[in-house]
Amino acid sequence: MKRVGILTSGGDCQALNAAMRGVVKALWFTYEPGQIEIYGFMDGYRGLIYGDYKQLNYSDFAGILTRGGTILGSSRTPFKQIREPDENGVNKVEAMKQNYYRLNLNCLVILGGNGTTKTANLLREEGLNVVTLPKTIDNDLWGTDMTFGFQSAVNLATNVIDCIHTTASSHKRVFIVEIMGHKAGWLTLNAGMAGGADIILIPEIPFDIDKIVDAINLRTKRGAAFTILAVAEGAISKEDAALSKKEYKEKLEKREFPSVSYEIAKQIEERTGQEIRVTVPGHMQRGGEPCPYDRVLASRLGTKAAELIINDDYGYMVGVKNREIVKFPLEEVAGKLKMVPTDSDFIQEARMLGISFGD
Ligand code: F6P
Repeated sequence: MKRVGILTSGGDCQALNAAMRGVVKALWFTYEPGQIEIYGFMDGYRGLIYGDYKQLNYSDFAGILTRGGTILGSSRTPFKQIREPDENGVNKVEAMKQNYYRLNLNCLVILGGNGTTKTANLLREEGLNVVTLPKTIDNDLWGTDMTFGFQSAVNLATNVIDCIHTTASSHKRVFIVEIMGHKAGWLTLNAGMAGGADIILIPEIPFDIDKIVDAINLRTKRGAAFTILAVAEGAISKEDAALSKKEYKEKLEKREFPSVSYEIAKQIEERTGQEIRVTVPGHMQRGGEPCPYDRVLASRLGTKAAELIINDDYGYMVGVKNREIVKFPLEEVAGKLKMVPTDSDFIQEARMLGISFGD
């Protein structure tokens, strides 16, 4: 008999449902009826803290392979505040443990990104059996080569750049497409290259506005009618990158623009006199159906998680290494970000294509 709790936490992404379906289907096909029980916690760790859960049946997982979002709902429970009591004095960590033991669970399956994985590791340290699956459109989880949600978001962001390309070819303007990713530039780099962006700005490579202007002027000199910039929401200037974390935070609080792209747009406009347009697809990038790649990846990761549960082999995040589905000890991956290596072949290849990183 196995009793398994499951939850999705943090920002959602495509293929969360596909991944849960993968875990549960593999368990249901392994155990005899009545030998496996699945409990879904609602809205991430919130459900585990406050005991908001429901027992799920086979039918709950039918027809969800292609459905975006998460059937369990999600919310952000910041890791930084996890040890702080809530507004009613509830000790969140103790509450999660109590609900786990009260339901007599064998393990928790936790789908999430960086913050979620840190809390999962904390629960492991507190003695709970935990298996995590890496979800995020940012692809910034340490250890795994790939997270599910990422490829679907690349498709969507690329589609935006493709659309901008056709309108850009009609107007002699500079276009900026702002792509999600506060800390890591994987999504911007991939969508930018796939969409043929001329300038790509990512958090890992701080930019110099004069270099951006040089790249635009060079294109104009060569006869290009327009320029497209793919800008990560976490793109940062060299000047700002030199500030301390505290100073940068204070500067952001005073920023008169809604995001970095508008600030860059104003600076380019002032220096070149060109017309600039900014497009921010925002949460669209996390929405809609998962692409086939993500459905397959999520399903495969789901079966790996099920295998760990069947073997009572806990304390791991499942992920991808060199195209193989593998497990990573949580203590080795939790709390580490996977950034774009600035000296990677990928960046070098982009530069060879004439893409400017504004550096
Ligand atoms: O972590 C996924 C992500 O979509 C980031 O790319 C983005 O910066 C952030 O979440 C947005 O968070 P929220 O949905 O809380 O606005």
